[in-house]
Amino acid sequence: MKRERRPIVVVGGGVAGLVTALAAAPSPVRLLCRAHDGSGSASALAQGGIAAALDPDDSTAAHAGDTIEAGAGHNDAAAVRWLTGEAPGTIAWLQQQGVRFDRGADGRLQLGREGGHGAARIVHAGGDATGAALVHALRARVQSSAHVQWRGGVDVDALLLRDGAVVGVRTCDQRGRQQHIDAAAVVLATGGIGALFAHTSNPAGADGAGLALGLASGAAPRDLEFVQFHPTALDVGGHCLPLITEALRGAGARLLDAAGQPLMRGLHPLGDLAPRDVVARRVWQVQRAGGRVWLDATAVGGDWSLRFPTVLAACLAHGFDPRQVPLPVTPAAHFHMGGIATDLDGRSTLAGLHAVGEVACNGVHGANRLASNSLLEGVACGRRLGAALAIAAPVRGGPGSHRWVERGDGLPPASLAALRTLLWRAAGPVREASSLRDAWRACAAAADAGWQMRLAKSLLRAAALRRGSLGAHCRLDRGCPG
Ligand code: SIN
Repeated sequence: MKRERRPIVVVGGGVAGLVTALAAAPSPVRLLCRAHDGSGSASALAQGGIAAALDPDDSTAAHAGDTIEAGAGHNDAAAVRWLTGEAPGTIAWLQQQGVRFDRGADGRLQLGREGGHGAARIVHAGGDATGAALVHALRARVQSSAHVQWRGGVDVDALLLRDGAVVGVRTCDQRGRQQHIDAAAVVLATGGIGALFAHTSNPAGADGAGLALGLASGAAPRDLEFVQFHPTALDVGGHCLPLITEALRGAGARLLDAAGQPLMRGLHPLGDLAPRDVVARRVWQVQRAGGRVWLDATAVGGDWSLRFPTVLAACLAHGFDPRQVPLPVTPAAHFHMGGIATDLDGRSTLAGLHAVGEVACNGVHGANRLASNSLLEGVACGRRLGAALAIAAPVRGGPGSHRWVERGDGLPPASLAALRTLLWRAAGPVREASSLRDAWRACAAAADAGWQMRLAKSLLRAAALRRGSLGAHCRLDRGCPG
């Protein structure tokens, strides 16, 4: 009897997971995600576009230079050269998958400019709805691909190890029913950790569950302390907040203090378009002093329903018409540069376990990600990983006994809410040795020891050990301007 081929198991239905699954053809793939329809990924919310040096006056070397400058030089230079060199081909590939990028009257791709970029090199789809357009097109491709079997509504809560190699996963559905799947390889494409903070631009599912499982299994972490805070989420209170894209400031919106004065005047040569971490810290400072910050986008012209449909809809849903009134804004956890340490093929330090997209750290983003490089990374690295897995021999593991590594129980809701506040205060846009240490001790002493607490401890420890300020990691006690 012919033995069925073990599938490549991909965990996560965002851009990185979808692309990895597609690129692994013709190998069989099981794509597992928490939501039934694969919704709920941060990719689908991404309002920025995809950076690619497409203009004849631009170059991939210039894109690489901007990426390294934004990353405070902490990037892996070879990885950056590879990623930025892949960008034009990535745009072409996405068009072949059915993504329709915005074009000008002359029929050419429109190239926008965003913070930190020295040239106009951002392509968008549907105005500020690029992430949604990508997810929509890629999901349709996956669902019509015979080699991918899609399963929604499941959480992967344990990995099967044999002699130090990952050889399978355990899923748990919403009714608590478990299933074991033997895997030729396991790919974590589970996104970031923004939802572990009190305020985030990410969806609630970006809670670090995949990262926690990978680390519990023994995969090495890298750069966990580097978390990017976006300066302008809509300040309507609560946990997951609508993002107000930086592109609005590129189009002329201005940050104002409560007295209506320009917030960034005299603070940075680029003013409102200063690097994201600089602006986020300024907004944070004002809030700490009891004030509020407003984004006045009333002078932004054009048809908002074409240029900024996502922002317009989110603001109207909360009772603000951004064309008429300034918007209250707050910083929010936005992107995790750190994650499971991988090489550019997505290989973690644990045989059989791969990671791609935001959950992974391959060094391209350094200490602070450049705008519109995250969808690029998800697509380019997903293609590379899928292609590598398609020709790789399935992981075998040794002859030894099996061992399940479980992520473990999560925190009860009240403890989770308290943890988010703790992380926001201690490991938010501005950090200090004493608050990092106190927060770590509070986690260590907590009666509820859920997996989120373990992950928070790892992040706090990494932030405490990174004694200098670098990129998005601002240590007020160590030379950060605040
Ligand atoms: C934004 O549109 O402001 C965010 C884009 C990004 O995260 O790259």
